[in-house]
Parts: sequence; structure tokens; C-alpha cells
Amino acid sequence: MNQATTKIKEASLSQQVTVTDLNHEGHGVARVDGKVVFISGALPGEVVTYRIKGRRRRKYDTAELAEIITASPDRIEPECKYFGKCGGCRLQHMSAQGQIKWKQNTLKENLQRIGNAEPENWLSPLTASEWGYRRKARLGVKYVEKQGGLLIGFREKQSSRINDLQECLVLDQRVSKLLPGLHELFKKISCYEKIPQIEISVGDNKVVFIIRHLVPFTSDDEAMLIEFAKLNNIEIYLQPKGPNTIIPLWPTSDSLLTYRIEQSDITIHFRPTSFTQVNSEINQKMISQVIKYLEPTKNDRVLDLFCGLGNFTLPIAKHAKKVIGIEGDDILVHSARDNAEQNGITNAEFTYADLFDESRATDWRIVGYNKLLLDPPRSGAKDVIASITKNAFEKIVYVSCNPSTLARDAGVLVHEKNYRLTHAGVMDMFPHTKHVESLAVFERGE
Ligand SMILES: C[S@@+](CC[C@H](N)C(=O)[O-])C[C@H]1O[C@@H](n2cnc3c(N)ncnc32)[C@H](O)[C@@H]1O
Repeated sequence: MNQATTKIKEASLSQQVTVTDLNHEGHGVARVDGKVVFISGALPGEVVTYRIKGRRRRKYDTAELAEIITASPDRIEPECKYFGKCGGCRLQHMSAQGQIKWKQNTLKENLQRIGNAEPENWLSPLTASEWGYRRKARLGVKYVEKQGGLLIGFREKQSSRINDLQECLVLDQRVSKLLPGLHELFKKISCYEKIPQIEISVGDNKVVFIIRHLVPFTSDDEAMLIEFAKLNNIEIYLQPKGPNTIIPLWPTSDSLLTYRIEQSDITIHFRPTSFTQVNSEINQKMISQVIKYLEPTKNDRVLDLFCGLGNFTLPIAKHAKKVIGIEGDDILVHSARDNAEQNGITNAEFTYADLFDESRATDWRIVGYNKLLLDPPRSGAKDVIASITKNAFEKIVYVSCNPSTLARDAGVLVHEKNYRLTHAGVMDMFPHTKHVESLAVFERGE
């Protein structure tokens, strides 16, 4: 290194700073002279130096970790050799307890700051195996000559970069072990440069790959894909255009995936493209937790909004007098009805409604229910909460994948609708990632 380069490097190295938090991307947050710096790889409580990376902005800088002066007691050696480069996991350098503690703090801070609400009781976090849990994934595929050819891996958010994976510790291991063979297969396919992604869906009974391709496969390509599917006992679907064009390649006709909800003796059937909870072990624990706190009895009429395939509706039906599941995806509504029938459940009904469409007076606002379960997408349930009449439900259980929208909705329930936030806690649906899944319980006030 010549003298000039050394000077530049030295000049860009920061003073020592204390990291106070993690941002939603999992980067350490520090403040220098009032300006925020996001330092990738740094953990809360650590004293570090860093180097500014990329363009400086008026309100914040992004930086990479240069040196750890004082390490966090939560810092551990990441298990995965791709950590730091792969877009899949962000927190493998933090112990499992550290991750959970951070997720719980994030929930607490959001509830206080956004909702001005504090639970009367904190639930113990729901945890399960940290590895091999992921049953849904979208893997990017890209051909980059300079990086050794075909890359298959998680796409980085807001970037087209893919880091090649030959294995993945968080993916269901039935899928991870296929990655080397998948590379070999795609190298032989005529249009390997025209396959942008593979969607993976895993059930208890099988593994399905949906391969998006921008040009038609040749008959030789299809023969190789079928051989791969047979050899590895998986199913392959092809997607030449939008989601409506998905068709089975092998086997040649559609068949459904399944998962069990053991404690309720229920088997859920689903299509490979349907929404399902990513982590099957946490899903089972979460269903038990929902039932424990919703306390459905044979006198209860329960409303399950954003019900999907009936993941909660059907277990609740085994305890309640009646459950109505409302869902905005028509295909899921049909699957939920089929699931009720196949499991011999006759007191669950499913209806289609767009729960974000305020203008439509849908049944769910009128009919009398005494308990409510909500499991909305990331944007939360603002319109639903707004239209709940004061004290309408004895109990509301809210399952959330976004603490900020949960906090916003909790604020309205507590401060405008006369509910008490009796319990809240996190569930580790996505270990090693920054995603925070939580559960909150509300009871009608006096
Ligand atoms: C987090 S998922 C929960 C699904 C289900 N409770 C489960 O555990 O599998 C959210 C659900 O909300 C549905 N959804 C999204 N937007 C909606 C809308 N505007 N109206 C009704 N349902 C909607 C999705 O289709 C999805 O099934």
C-alpha cells in the first residue's frame, strides 16, 4: 500500500462510538455529532470504529464495521459461512437470547412510542429450533461470468445482488441439500440466463419448486428438470409469465401440500403459492398461545379476520360455538372451506372480503361476535380497528408481523375503544432475521 492510500484509509476511519440500537435492517445504530450512522455488523452496547460506505446523506451515513473495541456479551461467531454477504440472515452474529431480547425491546419501544401503550404482562417469548425452520423462500438466480457463473441465493433487498449458496442453514434441510444439484442442473439448461427465480414451498408431505422462466424450455430442458424432480422426490411447477400461468411440470397434475396441527388433530391442505406460516414449529406453538389467550368456549362466536387457509379458524372451531373466517384472497377462502370439510369441522364458515375497503359494508361489522382474532399483513388492521364499535368484543387477540402497525392499532384500541392491553410478547418465527412476530391480547375495559 502506498502512502497516499494509507492516508485515505486512515482519514475515513471513524473515532470510537457506542452503538445504541439495531435498525430495521439489523445494522448497528450510533449517533455522531447528532447525525445517525448505520454500521453493518455492529451490535447494541458495542464500542466500535467504522468506515463510511457509499454516498453520505444529510440525515444519516451508512458504514461498515472497522474494529470492535468493546464487544457485546451477545456477540457470537456466525454459524454460516455466507453470513455477512448473503441477504437471508442479518443477526447470526448475535446469540439466540440476544436476538429475542432485541425483538422484545423493539416491540416494547414501538408500543410505547407509537401506541403510548404498555402491556400489563409480558408473555415469555415463543422459541423453537433456530436452524432448518424456513419452509417458504424465494431464491434469485443469476448468471454473472465474473463471479464464476451461475448464482443461486437470496436476493439482497433493493438490489439485484445475489450471493451464491451451496447450502443454507435456515432453509428446511430437505431443500438445502438440493442446492449443489440445482446448480449442476441449471448449468445444463439451455436458457440458464433466463431463469430469474425459484419459489420454494415445503409441506410435511413434500417439497415444491416453482421455476420462473422468461423464455420457453426446450424438450431436453424439461426432460432434465423432470429427471431432477424424480431423483430428488420433489415436485416442479413452471411459471412462464405472471402468477396465473403456473402449471405443474412433474407430476403432471396438481396435488396439494399439507401440514399438521398436531394438538388440534387437524391437517391443512394448501397450494404451493398459498400463504402459510414460514416456521412450522412456531406456528404450532402460536396456535396454542392464541387459543390459550382467546379462551374460546362453546358459548363463543369468534371472528377470525385475515384468516388465510383457516390456520387459526379451524383449531378455534374445536373449542367455540361458531367461527367465521374472513379473507381477501378468494383461492384461500376456497381452500379454507375444503380444509374445514376434510377435517370434519362444521361450525367454521369462510367468507371473502377486502378488509381494507372501507366503502363496503361487509357482514363482519354487523353480525354479533364476542371474540376477535386478527392476523393482518404488515400494513396492519387500521380500517378494521377504526370500525370496531367501542367495547364490541370481550377479547381481541392480535397476531402481528410488524410491531409498528401493531403499536399504532394497539394505541387506538387502548385510547379510543376502551380496551386494556393485558399481554404482549414476541414469537421467534424468523430466527437470525430482523423480522419481529408478536402477539397482543386485549380485554374489554370496565
Ligand atoms: C399474515 S397472513 C395470515 C393468514 C392466516 N391467519 C394464517 O395464519 O395462515 C395475512 C392474510 O391476510 C390476507 N389479506 C391481505 N390483505 C387483505 C385484505 N385487504 N383483505 C382481507 N384479507 C387480506 C392475506 O391473503 C393473508 O392470508
